[in-house]
Amino acid sequence: HQRAQYLRAAAAGLPVVDEVDGPERRWGQAVVHVAKGWAGTLADADAAETMLAISGRLVVCGDNQLGAAKAIARLGDLLGQSATLLAQRAHGRIAAFTRMEARRLHPHIQPSHIPLAPPGLASAFGGDAVLRARAGVFSGDALDEGTAALLGALAEHPVAPRRILDLGCGMGHLAIAAMRRWPAAEAHLADGDHRAITSASENLRRLGLSDRAVVHWWDAFEPAPAADVDLVLINPPFHTGVAVDFGPAKAMFRAAAAASAPRSTWLIVANRRLPYEAELSRHGTLRALLAADGFKVLEVRRG
Ligand SMILES: C[S@@+](CC[C@H](N)C(=O)[O-])C[C@H]1O[C@@H](n2cnc3c(N)ncnc32)[C@H](O)[C@@H]1O
Repeated sequence: HQRAQYLRAAAAGLPVVDEVDGPERRWGQAVVHVAKGWAGTLADADAAETMLAISGRLVVCGDNQLGAAKAIARLGDLLGQSATLLAQRAHGRIAAFTRMEARRLHPHIQPSHIPLAPPGLASAFGGDAVLRARAGVFSGDALDEGTAALLGALAEHPVAPRRILDLGCGMGHLAIAAMRRWPAAEAHLADGDHRAITSASENLRRLGLSDRAVVHWWDAFEPAPAADVDLVLINPPFHTGVAVDFGPAKAMFRAAAAASAPRSTWLIVANRRLPYEAELSRHGTLRALLAADGFKVLEVRRG
């Protein structure tokens, strides 16, 4: 799903596709990398299962810190089969299951419906609306508190933008809320997770916003996905896998700078302890808009 891995594999000369063909394909082996949340691992394992030939091998691998051992055990329970352990190291493990006819994982996948905004803010964004997320998308089980904090700042933002850029858009909360607040604005949404951009595109379509939006499968280290934007919204990632990593956030700030029209505004939300101020003040005049419940919303104004 991840654009960075896709680009790496393509650069290494491997044949890559952004989405695997449907269940009619019958593969002899599928490898699933354990995702950060169980919902993502379950959805990937289900997708892999439906593409495997009978007697094909489902290989599950991952970092122990991501919960590989538990995920393998849970899959074993759902599949009614014990895993064959292929490798076990201090940091991770690899296990395999064999596909049999009867079993299906998807009845265990819960559809996700997330409010666009907290109840007190819904009216600022065109009334109640619900977003849906593919399994494994960031905060697919509830509205993220950081997202909600940034929506609070967006509801107060005094100037109607022309062109919005949402970097690391997830299922699309920030751009969709902004498009509903300012019906003449257009938006670019970008994320490295293919499931996220699929979810964002579906949400835009369902809410009748597709005509004003462009969605990009984009890694933060690629060139900026848009130009001439006057409002940038970012709820930046700060983990790669399980490790704290500010690299993608900083790359998003550089992309925001490259995409910005003169006199643009950026709104960024972050966990209060994350040190983005020095980096952001290099890009414009920095102001803290609010700090509450463990989050801060920062505003950058560019001259
Ligand atoms: C904290 S979430 C924010 C999601 C959404 N904007 C929200 O507020 O609910 C960060 C998003 O950045 C994306 N992301 C992480 N690393 C990335 C990278 N290197 N390039 C592009 N997107 C990335 C993740 O897939 C995730 O959707």
